[in-house]
Amino acid sequence: MSIEEVAKALAKARHAVVFTGAGVSAESGIPTFRGANGLWEKYDAEEVASIQGFMRNPKAFWEFAEELIIKSEAKPNPAHYAIAELERLGIVKAVITQNIDMLHQKAGSKEVIELHGSLSKVKCLSCGREYDWEEIASEISKVSKMAGVSKAPQCECGSYYLKPEIVFFGEALPADAMKKAIEHASSCDVFMVVGSSLVVYPAAYLPFIAKDAGAKLVIINAEPTHADSHFDYVLHGKAGKILPEVVKVLKDYRQVKDEKRT
Ligand code: APR
Ligand code: ZN
Repeated sequence: MSIEEVAKALAKARHAVVFTGAGVSAESGIPTFRGANGLWEKYDAEEVASIQGFMRNPKAFWEFAEELIIKSEAKPNPAHYAIAELERLGIVKAVITQNIDMLHQKAGSKEVIELHGSLSKVKCLSCGREYDWEEIASEISKVSKMAGVSKAPQCECGSYYLKPEIVFFGEALPADAMKKAIEHASSCDVFMVVGSSLVVYPAAYLPFIAKDAGAKLVIINAEPTHADSHFDYVLHGKAGKILPEVVKVLKDYRQVKDEKRT
């Protein structure tokens, strides 16, 4: 598979959709969940990222939350900017992301569908009070310097059940986000996956919904995935390197086509 073939498929697309996972943010310094040095090698996902685990012991989540702070302070990388450029060129109509780091928006993407929520708000499950993520995050980074002090932030009502607006394992995905994602997957003609192991459902159904609707499937991923054989175009490598090359070749291709037309 070549970059040229992917660029040509995108250049001809009437309605392309990009679907991203943690791998698109890896070159922004954010650890992925699986693959080399994945977060689930270090933490027990059931304990720190499931709703059952959180209700049992919210402090375990907030120990893990330092990793999330990295996400909220990170900067977009060339992959995010290339995806935003594809939207500006009128090729990509939406980015469907599993990520909670808001880096697509920071890179300029407008139509971003966040399937797993984002690190923007924190809500107290006891009294309903809402806080900005930054407010709580700064408090965690402060206390984490004082050894032995619990990192779990407390609500003004005294509760420790402060939960960020992200989807924990065992929770339903936001219905409106899923509905929009399915609409795009069902009506696109190119569905491009970037940086996902495609092992978490229902998000991982989306490429197959697109395929059933007749779309061409593209995957750009550092490692092979279990789903690669279902894809029309498979590029293994770093998204931050591959995507800018795809955009460059695509722009050259469109320019040549426009010149032939004149
Ligand atoms: N460029 C492209 N792909 C990369 C890069 C990179 N620079 N670095 C890593 N990858 C690939 C890895 O090879 C891996 O296959 O990105 C993929 C990331 O997979 P996961 O860590 O499983 O992330 P993701 O697919 O987003 O996980 C889905 O699982 O834990 C939950 O809620 C969490 O949203 C997350 C969901
Ligand atoms: Zn409260």
